[in-house]
Amino acid sequence: MTSRIENHPILGEPEKGQLVSFTFDGRELEGYEGEPIAMALKAAGVMVHRYTSKKHEPRGIFCAIGRCTDCVMIVNGVPNTRTCITPLEAGMTVQTQYGVSAEPFDSVPGVVNAVSPVGATGESTTASESAQPTTASANTQPAAAGQEA
Ligand code: FES
Repeated sequence: MTSRIENHPILGEPEKGQLVSFTFDGRELEGYEGEPIAMALKAAGVMVHRYTSKKHEPRGIFCAIGRCTDCVMIVNGVPNTRTCITPLEAGMTVQTQYGVSAEPFDSVPGVVNAVSPVGATGESTTASESAQPTTASANTQPAAAGQEA
């Protein structure tokens, strides 16, 4: 079973680049070159992209067209990268963003799960596999649209 849309009734079959590896919070994942980073993360079961700076609340994909800031992450060391519109490249380093940092907040309950939401074994997960989040906190949907909390 895959968590990707293989054939959309309106958009048809999505074009796929080569299968490439990248890292997410130090874990090796795979996705298709050229697809949005957020798409590769979603296919791997990653729901939380960042935590807000004030209330440390989780955010993830919301608009998916580059208009909000809910999907921003640290990509190749650059914070505030909109992962829904940034194409995946081989060898990219993608990190969860805490405020504007890659350093987890001390006060975020369940933040350990958010750092490793794909699984607890440390195995590589391919984008074509259906890796479901393993914890409730990792599966947390972003709260309000584009709001900084
Ligand atoms: S989800 Fe990426 S900018 Fe809104």
